[in-house]
Amino acid sequence: MHADPAGGIPLARIATAFEAESAEYVARHPRSLQRVGHGIAGFYEGVPMHWMRDWSMPFPFLVESARGAVLRDIDGNEYADFCLGDTGSMFGHSPAPVAEAIVRQAGRGLTYMLPTEDALAVGRLLTERFGLPHWQVATTATDANRFALRVARAVTDRPKILVFNGCYHGTVDETFVRLVDGRPANRPGLLGQAADLTQLARVVEFNDVAALRQALSRHDVACVIAEPVMTNSCMVLPDPGFHAALRRLTRESGTLLLIDETHTISTGPGGYTRAHALEPDLFVLGKPIAGGVPASVWGFSEDVARRLTAARSQMPPGHSGMGTTLSANALSLAAMRATLEHVMTPEAYGHMESLAGQLATGLQAAVARHRLPWHVVRIGARVEFICAPGPLRNGTEAEAAHAPALERAIHLALLNRGCLIAPFHNMMLVSPATTAGQVEALVGAFDKVVAGLVPGLDDWQ
Ligand SMILES: Cc1ncc(COP(=O)(O)O)c(C=O)c1O
Repeated sequence: MHADPAGGIPLARIATAFEAESAEYVARHPRSLQRVGHGIAGFYEGVPMHWMRDWSMPFPFLVESARGAVLRDIDGNEYADFCLGDTGSMFGHSPAPVAEAIVRQAGRGLTYMLPTEDALAVGRLLTERFGLPHWQVATTATDANRFALRVARAVTDRPKILVFNGCYHGTVDETFVRLVDGRPANRPGLLGQAADLTQLARVVEFNDVAALRQALSRHDVACVIAEPVMTNSCMVLPDPGFHAALRRLTRESGTLLLIDETHTISTGPGGYTRAHALEPDLFVLGKPIAGGVPASVWGFSEDVARRLTAARSQMPPGHSGMGTTLSANALSLAAMRATLEHVMTPEAYGHMESLAGQLATGLQAAVARHRLPWHVVRIGARVEFICAPGPLRNGTEAEAAHAPALERAIHLALLNRGCLIAPFHNMMLVSPATTAGQVEALVGAFDKVVAGLVPGLDDWQ
């Protein structure tokens, strides 16, 4: 695959488009400009969390409210929201059952480090839905992954974990490794990183069964942590048979398998795991599991539970290194119960699947109409256009497929046309509240934006 960092569009044309769209954005956001154009007082870099600076727009707008799949800003603009909080609101903003559960719980106390009736329901619902018998609740997917990896090391008594090149599993130190010229190295850009993370991790390319076999052959890897589909660069689908090989090789080498479904829960009500009959030892899901209230879950098999109990019985008393005070608080359990019982339903997924299919088809048709060397990929409700040929087979190809300046210009142009997509890649989510009209609007906006970028004869002279 030969990716062009400008996606086949002349750079000068991208720069002109971005400038024009930036001016348009400024004109459409006079109140946001006045209030946050120079940053919000009191916050470092002018935002409460520095990722809020990473969007395509010159400054972030202030959100007035969001409901279903519509977001409104204080300037009176409305957006069809296909970003959905980068999956945190994948089931729509403030789904009614979740909003009601929050209100109910708000009058009864929010956190007390003791279980509620909701915990009884959630334990049963998680077991039924995802098939694993033992669960714990944490606050973020990052935390859940950290704790699950700690358990994996404890029960295998092995030091290393294995990740796929280009992965993202949250701010989990030992997953911040990359292949650079074929060799493992700390991921570039890590602030204050004192340790050589490659000491604790192996890294191989996704879909590379031979490299995986080799990396597991020394029997020192506690756990492979994997998204079943790589979603955090440009999307990479597993080759046919890859998951079967991954499971066979992990079992043969006594290595545990952690499937991180935080994004691939877009596949269906039981995630990619249930849809494709995967058999993980450990399972993690964060982001939308409580409808947008911070919460995550991690589950494990009977075998892991038995070995965990044995390992703990050998430990001296002390801090487990897992937990955090607000985890499994009453509010998040109430929201999680409502999400599992009333929001993440087969009917909701049916709607998401059908509209996401229409979105992918519409985008692909626009790509074909403009004869661009791009492709579109979808995993259930998650759709991505990629400004390079596909399919992509691994993290190196996914990284090379990014066209940052072009993507920024497209994102901003879509925003100016009332469609919000995820900032870090070209990802779009369809929620149960998304309408066919919103999908049509996004496809139409994409077609117009791309038409404006495709070079005329003059551009090549
Ligand atoms: C697959 C996966 N796992 C874990 C995380 C971390 O989630 P959080 O930032 O909520 O901790 C992410 C975030 O994008 C993710 O994509």
